[in-house]
Formats: sequence, structure tokens, C-alpha cells
Amino acid sequence: MSVNTIEHNRRQNHLAGRDEVWLFGYGSLIYKADFAFLEHRPATIEGWARRFWQGSHDHRGTPDAPGRVVTLIESSGETCGGMAYRVTPGVFEHLDHREKNGYLRLVTPLTFADGSTAEGLVYIAGPDNDAWLGPAPETEIAAHIARSRGPSGANRDYLLCLADALAELGYRDAHVEAVAHALRTRDSAVT
Ligand code: BEZ
Repeated sequence: MSVNTIEHNRRQNHLAGRDEVWLFGYGSLIYKADFAFLEHRPATIEGWARRFWQGSHDHRGTPDAPGRVVTLIESSGETCGGMAYRVTPGVFEHLDHREKNGYLRLVTPLTFADGSTAEGLVYIAGPDNDAWLGPAPETEIAAHIARSRGPSGANRDYLLCLADALAELGYRDAHVEAVAHALRTRDSAVT
């Protein structure tokens, strides 16, 4: 079943009749929470891997030269760490606009650091969206990020803020670490 179909089946129902909902952030939402929240807690989701496979036309690139930002890829056995926010449903009006470049909301089980669980929403961009870029070697992803910039700033700042935020939370992510390492290696070769 495609991400779009899951989204279509479940999106409306999850917010209906609720006063509050958990939102799982695994990208810029970890370090940039520009919305009101009631509580935030580090959390993980199972069966998904973070990858710099989504194009950004509106934040870290432009329509002519999209940057690269993260999405989640179904990946059995993998755990993705991030930050969960308890929010009121009104927050999604702002976030649906902020994340309009190919991302859809899905329902996912979350696990908090103390082992307790909850259901939450997560934004995912699947391969069938117009901004999808797909896989590339991590050194190429780093080169792409190094030359990209958009209305929200340099793509490299997005990558390095995400890598730092994950390190601070104590979540290892081999893909993010490899791309950040490749970017830093490029930087030291250039200077
Ligand atoms: C996130 O941090 O979870 C996120 C941010 C932007 C788009 C999709 C996800």
C-alpha cells in the first residue's frame, strides 16, 4: 500500500474529536519547533529509516535548484529517533502549510524513552510526490547539500543542525552522520 493510500485512509480520522495529539518530528522539527506545544519528549518509531531523499523547493532550495531534506523510508528492523510534541489539532494548519512540499501526515506508534507508547502523527514524503529525488551516494548528497540554499537558509545548516540535534539527544543515525561527515570533509578540503 502506498504512503498516499495509507494517508487517505487514516488522516482525517486521527484528528477528529481530539483535544490533543502527538506529533513525531525527525527532521527540522527536532531543532525548530515554531509552533505551540504542550509537552515535548524524545521518542522513536520502528520500521522507518531517515534519508535525505526528498527535494526542497521551498525551504532549503528553489524550484530550479531544489535542496535535499529528510523523509522516512519503510525499513523493517530500523528505529528512527526524534522528538515528539503534544499539540492541539490547530497546530496542523500551520504545519501543513510549512510542510506542503510533498509531505503527508501518517499515523504511527511512538515509543518514549521510559518505554511507554502512544499513537502520533508524522509527516512523510513518499516516492510518488513531485519533489522526490530518491537515493544517491552519501558523498553526492553532501555535495548537493553544499551547493543548495533556499528561503529558509543554507541546506548545509539544515544538515548540521539535524546532526547536532540527534547527537545531543543521543540518537545515532548512520546516514545523517555519513552525510554530515562528507560535508565536513569537503569543507576541510576546500579551505
Ligand atoms: C520533521 O522534522 O519531522 C519534518 C519536518 C519537515 C517535513 C517533514 C518532517
